[in-house]
Amino acid sequence: MWIVDKNVDKNKDYPQIKKAAQLLHDGHTIAFPTETVYGLGADATSDQAVSGIFKAKGRPSDNPLIVHIYSTNQLSELVQYVDNTSQALIEQFWPGPLTLIFTKKQGVFSDKVTAGLDTVGIRMPDHPVALALMEACQKPIAAPSANRSGKPSPTSAAHVYYDLNGRIAGIVDGGETGVGVESTVLDCTVTPPMILRPGGISYEQLTDCIGPVDVDPSLEEHAGQPRSPGMKYTHYAPVAPLYVTKGSDLWLQETIVAFQQDGKKVGLLAPVETISHMQADFLVACGREDDLSTTAHSLYESIRAFDNEAVDIILAQSVEMRGIGVAIMNRLVKAAGHKWLIENNDKTSF
Ligand code: TXA
Ligand code: MG
Repeated sequence: MWIVDKNVDKNKDYPQIKKAAQLLHDGHTIAFPTETVYGLGADATSDQAVSGIFKAKGRPSDNPLIVHIYSTNQLSELVQYVDNTSQALIEQFWPGPLTLIFTKKQGVFSDKVTAGLDTVGIRMPDHPVALALMEACQKPIAAPSANRSGKPSPTSAAHVYYDLNGRIAGIVDGGETGVGVESTVLDCTVTPPMILRPGGISYEQLTDCIGPVDVDPSLEEHAGQPRSPGMKYTHYAPVAPLYVTKGSDLWLQETIVAFQQDGKKVGLLAPVETISHMQADFLVACGREDDLSTTAHSLYESIRAFDNEAVDIILAQSVEMRGIGVAIMNRLVKAAGHKWLIENNDKTSF
């Protein structure tokens, strides 16, 4: 583990960054901070290096990785063309939490990165340490979030250490990440562009910049509504079962008491405004309702906090579906495996 000040000075040499860049260059996997979450990087041009990422994370090989760059000059080596819409987005939001999907150039980086697709996701992270590391390495860096597959994404080096210690060559510790949820993934190969994953750049920010934007219909269907039965896969999940709740504070408190009377230890994750007047066995205040960027910032840390407590069930209060709230709800619903508890609706959606 190498500790680096978040505000690295571009004009100085950092032995820690040099060492990490050399290891990356030599085909090893290194975790590093970005403004969203920690990434697990490897040389995107090497099959063997990219395989190391999938192995360390236990990630299914059909899930493509994002290629990270430090300069827009690298784009033309990686993608076939950059259309005007993508160009406008790059000018407005890079470096930043927006991944753009382009038609890839064949044969320049490992096919394992894109899991057999003809497209590639590219992003330039807004983090001085990530940018300095990539510049020192001089390679495009494939990097998913640096968690074990299925776990919440890491927002500190300690989270990475907990999940991946012994499985990777090192961690560059640049402190806590900022945004806290991953980048927005936007497919720019279709017209209008389509959001495939909500994230750090909101729908509203995108439409303000380029006009109409579509949203992958499967996201719309899942996000604000209870899911139909049988939705199997869980992501970002804590150990105890998690339910997303929607209802008044009075109903929420009654629901907690009902579980407790059933012999269950109940954890509650909610904005501080709610937590301040609730009772449960373990309370986690996650940001403020009046500024959802604070909720996004501490979301994964908050979900992870329950793993150290002997709770039987976790209730997580839903937030408003606007701005970054859309990304927060997407992650919460996935962490819950689409299980909801809704006031005046006695069914849960298993
Ligand atoms: O903020 C982030 O994006 C973080 C940091 C480390 O940069 N990275 C990240 O990577 O979240 P990962 O691998 O956990 O998520 C990448 C997402 C996945 O949902 C993947 O399916 C999608 O991007 N993706 C990557 N390439 C794609 C492509 N060519 N077409 C469609 N989706 C793609
Ligand atoms: Mg991930």
